[in-house]
Amino acid sequence: MRTQVGIVGAGPAGLMLSHLLHLAGIDSIIVENRSRAYCEARVRAGLMEDWVTKLLVETGVGARMQREGLAHDGIYMTFGGELRHIDFHKLIGKRVTIYGQQEVVKDLIARRLADGGEIHFDVADTSVHDFNTGKPKIRFRHQGKAQEIDCDIIAGCDGFHGVCRPSFPAGSLRGYDRIYPFGWLGILAKAKPVADELIYAYHDRGFALFSMRAPEVVRYYIQCAPDENLDDWPDEKIWDELETRLGGVKPLPRGPVLEKLVAPMRSYVAEPMQTGRLYLAGDSAHIVPPTGAKGMNLAMADVRVLARAIEAFVKSKRDDLLENYSKTCLGRVWKGQRFSWWMTQMLHRYADASDFDIKRQIAEIDYVTCSEAAMTSLAENYAGLPME
Ligand code: PHB
Repeated sequence: MRTQVGIVGAGPAGLMLSHLLHLAGIDSIIVENRSRAYCEARVRAGLMEDWVTKLLVETGVGARMQREGLAHDGIYMTFGGELRHIDFHKLIGKRVTIYGQQEVVKDLIARRLADGGEIHFDVADTSVHDFNTGKPKIRFRHQGKAQEIDCDIIAGCDGFHGVCRPSFPAGSLRGYDRIYPFGWLGILAKAKPVADELIYAYHDRGFALFSMRAPEVVRYYIQCAPDENLDDWPDEKIWDELETRLGGVKPLPRGPVLEKLVAPMRSYVAEPMQTGRLYLAGDSAHIVPPTGAKGMNLAMADVRVLARAIEAFVKSKRDDLLENYSKTCLGRVWKGQRFSWWMTQMLHRYADASDFDIKRQIAEIDYVTCSEAAMTSLAENYAGLPME
């Protein structure tokens, strides 16, 4: 096979890149080791920055999001029995949209296929080669048969555990890492929402979050041990714990739990995000703890930068944008890392926290929910820093 851009991974990054390239008249082929059904069902955070919703609409893949997504003007924070609101729209004129990541994936897959795009699902043994020569290749097996894609550029959109980042030549990449001493226990449930917008809760017993997916589908998280055993958490215990931690906003409307999970929390950045003609985008290059809801947003920012750089390369033989890809992305990535870390350390209870640490945390939450300057800073990061 032969294409201009070979893309590894059919998550939001790989699919959006393929879509943006198609709109620019550039061919790509996606390979994905999971099935289409798996990609379309994989539940992840679902909060989109203001510019991402606009990007989906402007590029013709936002119609269902506009109908079914939930536009939120701001968020709530609760601590010490108080509930406070931060109104992004009033502060900076921007909103965020709740729309499940897997819904974005479904919309993009449908659109790529309708536009004649090529996506190979269920492939095995994917590997990337010769990206430091002018003739990069992706090899994989499909239904037992060895396949090869010749391309000009490879995009590694294959997630944190993918094959592209480990394929960088020895010594050419540095990883910056932070592992947090807690995780999130999350549930998806069929129940009425307890509020009209998300609630981030700081409590003596640990962090909790109320979020939603649809008018009658709610998502809740509680801070737990990174290796928490789900067997220790029957549904009633989860609801009781949520009700305690969400403090002033009880009682919580309860309902059947559809799904339960434990997610570890980690910050990671790979530098640089490119080697030769191999470019990493999204989780393959960086992951964030979910507290700031930045994961998919950073992935979308990477591929928008990459699509423009590839277009300049293909159409005008300019390679300066490609050369600067990593540098351009990392400015935003590190600000997303900073914000995600900051939200995480402010809102979680650390086992070794001193009384001083706790008083300082409470003062920070108090400040960030009453000072207009502090709320504005949170709002512009949460709703998305400007892309240009
Ligand atoms: C979610 O809805 O899954 C969600 C929302 C906001 C976050 C994290 C997760 O900060």
